Amino acid sequence: MSRRDVFRLAGALGVVGAAGVAAGFRFAGDSATVGAQLTSEVALPEPFTRSLVVPAVLAPERRDADTDYYRITQRRAMAQILPGYATPILSYNGTFPGPTLVSARGRRTVVTHRNELPVPTVVHLHGGHVPHDSDGYPTDLLYPAGSDSMADMAGMQRDSLARTMTGERDYEYPARQPAATLWYHDHRMDFTGASVWHGLAGFHLIVDEAENRLRLPSGERDLPLMITDRAFRADGSLMYPALDPAMMEKPGVTGKYVQGVLGDVVLVNGVPWPVHRIAGARYRLRLLNASNARVYRLRIDSPGGRAGGFVQIGSDGGLLERAQHLSALDIAPGERFDVVVDFSGCAPGDQVTVHNDLGSGKTAQVMRFVVGERADDPSMVPDALVPIDRLDRAAAVRTRLFDFRRGDVGGMVGWTINGRAYAVDEVIAEPKLGEVEIWRFSTDLNHPIHVHLNQFQVLSRNGNLPHATDVGWKDTLNLAATEVAEVAIRFTDYAGRFVLHCHNLEHEDMAMMATFTTVQ
Ligand code: C2O
Ligand code: CU
Ligand code: CU
Repeated sequence: MSRRDVFRLAGALGVVGAAGVAAGFRFAGDSATVGAQLTSEVALPEPFTRSLVVPAVLAPERRDADTDYYRITQRRAMAQILPGYATPILSYNGTFPGPTLVSARGRRTVVTHRNELPVPTVVHLHGGHVPHDSDGYPTDLLYPAGSDSMADMAGMQRDSLARTMTGERDYEYPARQPAATLWYHDHRMDFTGASVWHGLAGFHLIVDEAENRLRLPSGERDLPLMITDRAFRADGSLMYPALDPAMMEKPGVTGKYVQGVLGDVVLVNGVPWPVHRIAGARYRLRLLNASNARVYRLRIDSPGGRAGGFVQIGSDGGLLERAQHLSALDIAPGERFDVVVDFSGCAPGDQVTVHNDLGSGKTAQVMRFVVGERADDPSMVPDALVPIDRLDRAAAVRTRLFDFRRGDVGGMVGWTINGRAYAVDEVIAEPKLGEVEIWRFSTDLNHPIHVHLNQFQVLSRNGNLPHATDVGWKDTLNLAATEVAEVAIRFTDYAGRFVLHCHNLEHEDMAMMATFTTVQ
């Protein structure tokens, strides 16, 4: 079963570097979002004309005493994204976003993925507290069903630890962590940016009793919202400046897009600038930024301010200790914000728009709610939500430094951590399970930094207090240019190798990733 061959970084990064340097582009060191924006070749749809779609919740195939079993087929499909066009996508079960999985805390969840795509894949549960062999290590490839040998693909190197399979693979999630908004997406080494852009992403929610007891808005008033930006070619297909459009040999993107790929169309759950008709009541919005590189500054705009702002109830890793009011929030690739918006003070017919204050023109808008009649609302948003154990700075046994920076990768332009490009055989840290550590992240440009296996708590930014939006358990932290942040982290339960990386997916694919191994 085990195939040991994986793709090689070196050659392709050479091409990236040459193109980037030759074009003479400058990196915008001070902007809040790093990247270069594509221009669609189609006329962009009018915002707020198409209805929001909520991804279907996947039903288990079967259940036993302690486990729910699901099946997902990864396959090519056609999506209706732009009016009048069919867009080819790579999909989980034929849709973008993929189906939403819901795990009740404590019930083991097994997802059998079948790969019917033309490329290998890796499934990662982002934010999941998951053993190594189901975490989707970037070289633990699932080769397409029926593919007998991928060995003669160009540029492969051996990763003696990789556990690859062909056709189908079970991912086992213990789901012992608290209620949270997680998401799953492709994580194949060197090609994560291209595969997520083409559609390989979906929600995975953990629910639990502590959350139920709070009586937060639920059912159709609990909306997972996956925000992505994309661009489209004249034929309606997705535009992505890959060096190898077949996504097989050369990783990375061309020229200035090495900074990150931005689209000029904002999609929510795969619909461009959708509109959603709602009742005059409280709604829970599970905001996920699944964009490759774009950071959004979200703000709610309602007539007379009648919808108020966001009441944040959760972060990446689950509910907060206390609800907090935010007039705006920055959300970087990989991050989730769980917020409640109260539309009960709105007048019927009010249009409430979600803006992106970091965008311009059409990218300054995200979606719109149109409020109907005031409705019965049994929901509550208590000030006190769930208790959170504090990871104490004084308990930390060591501090590790991780510097995220543009750098030489084999003599070419790429992205590095501590000056090193991702290499499958290098281990950057060996934290001991159960020990609290302080991880200090520093940057040159904007980098959203993501750590697998366990969430962390933010201790400081540039030596000062963290941002209000840093509260709770985080697994992705958006750092501005030249910023330094300290987080407290404690890895638990699962020994093995995991990664930390920049969640700007172009940076990730172009080597800004490192392996850490947790040890007993
Ligand atoms: Cu959302 Cu390692 O990724
Ligand atoms: Cu992750
Ligand atoms: Cu980055």
